[in-house]
Amino acid sequence: MQLGYGKLILFGEHFVVYGLPGIASAIGLYTRCRLYPNEKGITVNDRLTNKHILVGKGNSDILEQTMQIILKETALEKKNFRLEIDGNIPIFGGLGSSAALIVSIARELNREFLLNLSDKKINEIAFKAEHVFHSAPSGIDNTVSTFGGLVWFEKNLHGGKNKMEQLKMKKPLLVVIGNTRIIHDTGEAVKFVRAQKEKQPKKFEQIFGQAKELAHEAKKELIAGNGKKVGELLNKNQGLLKQVGVSSKELELLCETALGAGALGAKLTGAGMGGCMFALAKNAEQQKKIAREFEKEGFGSYITKVGV
Ligand code: MEV
Repeated sequence: MQLGYGKLILFGEHFVVYGLPGIASAIGLYTRCRLYPNEKGITVNDRLTNKHILVGKGNSDILEQTMQIILKETALEKKNFRLEIDGNIPIFGGLGSSAALIVSIARELNREFLLNLSDKKINEIAFKAEHVFHSAPSGIDNTVSTFGGLVWFEKNLHGGKNKMEQLKMKKPLLVVIGNTRIIHDTGEAVKFVRAQKEKQPKKFEQIFGQAKELAHEAKKELIAGNGKKVGELLNKNQGLLKQVGVSSKELELLCETALGAGALGAKLTGAGMGGCMFALAKNAEQQKKIAREFEKEGFGSYITKVGV
């Protein structure tokens, strides 16, 4: 059995698609894949989405398309096996569930068939298969899910190697994830941002400039473990995402709730327009308080750490 981890984008979602820096961390939520050999054909039971497919039956389901890419990349099309998928990551919620799914499948095939795939190759497969979920992924989700930890990421817009740096923090940050439970479509959110950018190029140029500066400042403060400053920068990043138009009334309410409970900062994470946000807490007690406030408002909550 192999796991693929979810992620939190701390800084720079959407902007990373345009080659600006993003900072993301793996989190404890995961997708799990277990392979049972000697079955007829290749079947996949995904308990997270409740999908059960016999691969190669030619339908256009995203799970089928994902499997086609993974099987082609690993040259396992002729094998017989069944994959059982489960886990605890909310799907289509901005926490990198698609990348986690692909990574868990690729790692499980690697284990079972002794493919000796490097992390670099797992990451390449995950990036290719991520295109099934949205047509222009930056690569940040699959990179974090594959390599784990806290990652600085810059997409190479000319098709060359992306910039990836693993950041070490003095102490981990205590966060609370708030889940609107509104499922979003990352592809649609990315398309929406592109359309806005085309309509208002001047405004976006300005926002992009600020986003870049913010990410560089955040990198310094994260490494230094300056939670207070990181919190302020998270709030500024949320302001930029709001201007871009990917926040929502539920995400804003979650951010306000967290800040009202004393959080150091709060912002949406991932594509936005629903999905999840997270808040940075001062200590474990406050973390629990924020989680309780989220639940009181009817939202989901999950307590975790980043930078461990
Ligand atoms: C999705 O988790 C993050 C986005 O920036 C899209 C991407 O980077 O591929 C919205």
